[in-house]
Amino acid sequence: MLNPTLYKSSRTYDFFMKLLGYENAIGRFLQQVQIDCPSDCRVLDAGCGTGLLGLHFLDRFPQATLVATDLEPNFLRLTIANAGKRGIDRDRIQIGVADISTPNVLTTLDGDSCSLKDSSFDLICVGAVVGYAEDTEASIRGLIRLIAPGGYLINIEMSESLTGRFVSKRYQYRNITLSRMQEVIRDVGCDVTATRLNLRHLPAKLTRTAIIARKRQP
Ligand SMILES: C[S@@+](CC[C@H](N)C(=O)[O-])C[C@H]1O[C@@H](n2cnc3c(N)ncnc32)[C@H](O)[C@@H]1O
Repeated sequence: MLNPTLYKSSRTYDFFMKLLGYENAIGRFLQQVQIDCPSDCRVLDAGCGTGLLGLHFLDRFPQATLVATDLEPNFLRLTIANAGKRGIDRDRIQIGVADISTPNVLTTLDGDSCSLKDSSFDLICVGAVVGYAEDTEASIRGLIRLIAPGGYLINIEMSESLTGRFVSKRYQYRNITLSRMQEVIRDVGCDVTATRLNLRHLPAKLTRTAIIARKRQP
């Protein structure tokens, strides 16, 4: 259960992500990640926060569409506002409340429920969120079920550095080890690479790392 005070103010969170240069640093990192997605790819950003991961890919693939989910509706509204600031067409984005424990079950802000179909995304991006699932391994498996064969999972995960662990503790983020996470992802049919952020990606490098996986073709 997420402590309700942790992500109370999405605007404050957004302000500090921008002020401290986190957003730009993660953007610089994503820019160098080579992925082979169709130009009209379908992207899911689960636990989207300010939307920085999913919106990056909408900028990069001008015909792509995004489903952005988060437990907190205020972050969903902020993601839409941030898309507007980037000049991204609102029609390209669907938002919904979803718990990362069951990433396929989505409720719109009008209260309608729908479920996301297996193998329906070319790219799923997550960042610092699977550690909030009731069962992190089950959450990862659930996310990977949603990826089409040949599609990608990009996880900009909390790192196991001293600063990463300090911030995880502050945000009550309880993750499995990164080596176990890679094992789980491999076991469900993906090839995995782990990439450390480098000095160009400061300050994000202090707390984040990346796990990039591609779902094998049957
Ligand atoms: C550390 S922020 C990460 C935001 C963004 N993904 C990033 O990489 O910067 C964590 C986000 O996960 C959301 N969150 C927390 N618990 C969640 C849950 N159980 N299911 C879905 N989202 C959750 C929070 O509301 C917040 O937006």
